Amino acid sequence: MAFLRELRIKNFRNLCSVDLKFSSKVNVIEGQNGSGKTSLLDAIHLLATGKPFSGGAPADFVTRGATETVVNGEVDCDGVAVRLGVEKSRLGTVCRANGASVRSASSLMAYLPVISLDAQLYQLVSNSPAYRRSLIDRTLFHVEPDYLDLFKKFHRSMQHRNEAIRQGSSGSALEFWDEEFCSLALAVDQRRQAGVAALNSLLSLMEPWAGAGAGTLRLDYRSGWRAGLSLREALTEGAEREKQWNMTLVGPQRAELRVTVDGIAAKQRVSRGQAKRIACLLVAAQLAYLEQTSQVEPVLLIDDLSAELDQQAQRVVLETLVNGRRQTFVTAIDYEVLAKGKYLDNAQRFHVEHGTFLAQ
Ligand SMILES: Nc1ncnc2c1ncn2[C@@H]1O[C@H](COP(=O)(O)OP(=O)(O)OP(=O)(O)O)[C@@H](O)[C@H]1O
Ligand SMILES: [Mg+2]
Repeated sequence: MAFLRELRIKNFRNLCSVDLKFSSKVNVIEGQNGSGKTSLLDAIHLLATGKPFSGGAPADFVTRGATETVVNGEVDCDGVAVRLGVEKSRLGTVCRANGASVRSASSLMAYLPVISLDAQLYQLVSNSPAYRRSLIDRTLFHVEPDYLDLFKKFHRSMQHRNEAIRQGSSGSALEFWDEEFCSLALAVDQRRQAGVAALNSLLSLMEPWAGAGAGTLRLDYRSGWRAGLSLREALTEGAEREKQWNMTLVGPQRAELRVTVDGIAAKQRVSRGQAKRIACLLVAAQLAYLEQTSQVEPVLLIDDLSAELDQQAQRVVLETLVNGRRQTFVTAIDYEVLAKGKYLDNAQRFHVEHGTFLAQ
């Protein structure tokens, strides 16, 4: 199990200079609007993945007037200390583990797996298909160490195929890329289908929890090409359209992960609070899946839970997601009104004002 022991931040949003030590269990960050709570969680996400969960370019998150963001942390990985570091500026990104630069930011994930419940996740039901697809991919990155490699190869093959289409290739030239694209696409599709099936069976066990008042929650994965056709047939069917658009129009890059309630798209069925509960429930299924398959115990970043959730819903979410083992960060405007549940009572508390932290 990994947890973040120490964190130093320079120039990330309003956090100009922060140096903190955390509990390996629950940490609560409290402060007024605009004080820097989300920024702290986002800096942890940046350290763990190379990217902030809020997205954006360095111009958005490097503190106004500064030229780069630097986040360093010490992680305890099963008792072994690992130093991680990320520097970001408009010139690029440098990621380090124990002082040595790591080739891709995603290698950081192996040291500090994180799952964040943030504004993007809370809008999961109404968010873009790309975001929902990424949810299943991110789950698989944690569960199956070789999935990231497969996923990158698939993307490269699609880019090569797109290039071949742009250059007007046909016949054997395109056939070569078709072959490669189809075999990698089908491998990605099969992994995703298995992942979704596992999440669905876990969701069925969590039914009483769902309570969201909504109904039976399920994920419905559509592969990204017309049902009843093989991917090959779908490529052939779409060949003319591909020439017009100069890109590959069918495949896992077009897959959709629909969230349904009683078989109907959740988007049309649920209130904002219910949508937020559904997103939290999916994270609960994701965590159970990780625990079942790989014993990965990710660090949880829970931002702004109380907005739109009633006290009862907050309690259910926190009691389900926060256990006595995994390190968790929870933000709150007011700790006293947070529906705590048993694990939050003994949390390590931090108060933040205008980007400055005080341990309580
Ligand atoms: N690039 C930047 N440079 C300096 N300050 C920034 C930058 N980007 C954002 N900020 C400021 O950082 C502050 C902290 O934002 P943050 O989202 O962390 O607040 P918060 O404590 O989560 O507030 P809320 O309770 O509203 O969610 C905001 O006042 C915002 O204006
Ligand atoms: Mg916030």
